[in-house]
Amino acid sequence: MDKFLIHGGVPLHGEVAISGAKNSALPALAACLLTEEPVLLHRIPRVLDVLTMEKLLRSIGARTETKGGVLRVEARQILSPEAPYQLVKTMRASSLVLGPLVARARRARVSLPGGCAIGARPINLHLAGLEQLGARMRQEHGYIEAEAAHGLRGACFAFDRVSVTGTEDLMMAAVLARGETVLENAAREPEVKDLADLLLQMGARIEGAGTSTMRIQGVERLYGAEHRIIPDRIETGTFLIAGAITGGEVLVTGCAPEHLTALTAKLRQAGAEVTEAGPDALRIRSSGALHAVDLITEEYPGFATDLQAQFMALMTQAEGLSLITETIFENRFMHALELARMGAAIRLEGRRATVMGPSRLTGAAVLASDLRASASLVLAGLVASGETLIDRVYHIDRGYESIESKLSALGARIQRVR
Ligand code: EPZ
Repeated sequence: MDKFLIHGGVPLHGEVAISGAKNSALPALAACLLTEEPVLLHRIPRVLDVLTMEKLLRSIGARTETKGGVLRVEARQILSPEAPYQLVKTMRASSLVLGPLVARARRARVSLPGGCAIGARPINLHLAGLEQLGARMRQEHGYIEAEAAHGLRGACFAFDRVSVTGTEDLMMAAVLARGETVLENAAREPEVKDLADLLLQMGARIEGAGTSTMRIQGVERLYGAEHRIIPDRIETGTFLIAGAITGGEVLVTGCAPEHLTALTAKLRQAGAEVTEAGPDALRIRSSGALHAVDLITEEYPGFATDLQAQFMALMTQAEGLSLITETIFENRFMHALELARMGAAIRLEGRRATVMGPSRLTGAAVLASDLRASASLVLAGLVASGETLIDRVYHIDRGYESIESKLSALGARIQRVR
């Protein structure tokens, strides 16, 4: 099992190019099931979750191939509308094939995603929405069986809480349903808007993507398309924080500054200098003397829960008390326990964490528990004195494209060891 060995204390300097968004790539791949024509996708990141999704699409009957950095997916026929447990257990976003399979093949058998380190993460809203669209749902042996023998019909569905992949799943089901579907309290994340942009290019009729009310007019069929997915705002945020925590200066290119306003505002509030260096670049500069700021994670455009762990690592180096409130997931503070082993002063009370800084972090052997927690430990390792050894880095490989080479190019002393 791979590990990262980091020698901390080096301020990062230089330029890093951002990859395509993992959380855009996954729904975009699932959307390819909605047409028998080929779809070409640009800027798909080579991360484990994308490879898992490609494997799932192939097991369903699609053909996938990457040529010259472009991923081509062709689902000429749906041979097996299933998402088996052995794939779903490694990537819960497999449930994104549920909507497209019911829409295209009129049935689906998808393993229920088990629990997850950061919370229960049920998919009850995905299932309730599909039922509203006319699918008959059955659950047995750990699988969801959905069927719509006469196809789906448009309906109104209100999410009783905002769900990113729930919105994406139902959007993909609705585009081939008969009639109009209205989704209320829909997620507004940029990745939802990006999926809608792809579906529009495939011939779908969608209004209001990126707002909390979406109207979708079902169409008979969808066509092939070519689409470049958006840059990864979470990778962008992670590198901005890496520049701040090490007291360096980093230029992040190929990003979308407009997707990170909540983070850049917080970084400025904490005393880092963040400037837009062109329409797709951000520069961060920090002398290292930061002050503590409070943080509440919220659905987009609020502060992203996927950047909470990384920001907590930064707050261990800030002067004062930072109150961090996690409102999206019920158990997303595992990184705090590992940061504490490196010397951070963090108190946990339910969904609230209090970080007292600055703490002098010392390198230690630590364990990654989930994707963003592992990013937080890498950031702490970059600033800790001495050696940090992070185990189970497959978590980080799920969502970051060659993070260690990108960090090394900025001067970090990080290497992958077996
Ligand atoms: C997406 O997960 C992202 N994953 C997550 O990123 C991200 O943390 C999350 O949105 C929130 O922004 C992908 O896009 C592939 P939700 P998702 O449905 O869609 C509850 C990463 O690190 N809920 O918006 O699964 C749920 O338990 C990952 O890249 C229900 O109760 O999240 C959570 O508390 C981690 N019932 C809240 O809603 C449902 O049917 C938000 O979940 C669905 C969700």
